[in-house]
Amino acid sequence: MADRWAIAGVDLHLRPLGSRVRAGLEDALRDAVRDGRLATGTRLPSSRALAADLGLARNTVAEAYSQLVAEGWLVARQGSGTRVAGRPRAEASARPAGRSPDAGAGAAIAEPRHNLRPGSPDLGSFPRAAWVSATRRALAAAPPDAFGYSFSQGRPELRGALAEYLARARGVVADPERIVVCGGFAQALSLTCEALAARGARTLVTERHGLDTHRRIAARQGLATRPLEIDEHGARTDQLVEVGGDAVLLTAAHQFPFGVALAPSRRGAAIDWASDGDRIVVEDDYDGEFRYDRQPVGAMQALAPDRVVYAGTASKSLAPGLRIAWLVLPDDLHPHLLETQELLRSGPDAVAQLALADLIRSGAYDRHVRRARLAYRRRRDRLLATITREAPAVRVHGIAAGLHALLELPPGSSEAEVIELAASRGLAVAGLESFTDGPPIGWPALVIGYATPPEHGYTAALARLAAVLAQVS
Ligand SMILES: Cc1ncc(COP(=O)(O)O)c(C=O)c1O
Repeated sequence: MADRWAIAGVDLHLRPLGSRVRAGLEDALRDAVRDGRLATGTRLPSSRALAADLGLARNTVAEAYSQLVAEGWLVARQGSGTRVAGRPRAEASARPAGRSPDAGAGAAIAEPRHNLRPGSPDLGSFPRAAWVSATRRALAAAPPDAFGYSFSQGRPELRGALAEYLARARGVVADPERIVVCGGFAQALSLTCEALAARGARTLVTERHGLDTHRRIAARQGLATRPLEIDEHGARTDQLVEVGGDAVLLTAAHQFPFGVALAPSRRGAAIDWASDGDRIVVEDDYDGEFRYDRQPVGAMQALAPDRVVYAGTASKSLAPGLRIAWLVLPDDLHPHLLETQELLRSGPDAVAQLALADLIRSGAYDRHVRRARLAYRRRRDRLLATITREAPAVRVHGIAAGLHALLELPPGSSEAEVIELAASRGLAVAGLESFTDGPPIGWPALVIGYATPPEHGYTAALARLAAVLAQVS
């Protein structure tokens, strides 16, 4: 891949970023717009042309363009390609949808922006009042040591509340002593990989479709990753023996991004594989509270608490900005992880931990999750009804759960083109390919995060999606 290229006569430098190619491309374009090398109104090459120039997948370029459109750096209009927006600002993504980056400035007008990328709950529904009350109560009751260095494992108040909550809501076998509170699942995974490597692990098996960041986190801790295929019954844990590896990372309750649940026989196969070879299953229960058609299936950790690292997070149920996640660990991994946390003291802020403990104990957390569950269930129902009505050739995969859905596009359509078309209508969407380890699966699909827009923006975002899908159906 070239590390320099020219757009509209402007020389741009792409830092060699390994697998972070898309991020590198976005950074290079942002830099060029920020420092004026790419002037307002400059027309960028088509994603096909730029991808060919750079030797990249077209989706990578299309998604980089789409991200920059969503952030307000670029504007995309059907028929006139992608251009540099007027005076874009870094905080552009925080503006309410429908406002241009230059409203009132007389410069180029960006399309109204809508975001249906996966990964975020509705940030506008964060229970601010309940959080303030919980913080106030927690602070009033906090012992002085809450403000000290102790409890690298996490505040005992939170570990106690989580142990009860996880047993009740997710069927987890959780002793507060085996819980470690972490700074989000990202840190929890990093700590887990480090502990696995310390006990001799070399390879983490990961679902072939999932978040690339998780594979990169494993690599940082010295673990090679190996992909595991997925079908309608979830990850092919029945193939783990052939695939090999020392541990496997699974999104069992709701596969990300396929949206399927891991079938009971596949759960059993993963546990057998782990038990037979002193291996570990890491269960990423990132959205386990959000099941709409039935009671959530309990965590697989309960099947073998000594083989499974259970990981939960507040990133979907409350907000990713809190950076609070929790691990329930087998006995043999617990000491190493704890030692690292003692060294780094990198867990989340103690006051936030106390507030979350209070939120759980007071019942406010359950009430918030119930409200969010109802709201996201309605959004998913509306998404499905819209697709049935406007784009019947699009197939929705996955169970009624979580905050995202996988939409299989009609045969012959191109993910990159649909992403571009959506961007030209002011809508950011993600393609399945960007969550795929290795070659594309062979059928185009979008991963739609229906929880992402604010409540008032969902109708418009859905209408745009419907228009795009109708056009390719
Ligand atoms: C598959 C998956 N796991 C875990 C997480 C949560 O990550 P974190 O707790 O680091 O915000 C997410 C959030 O997007 C996710 O999609």
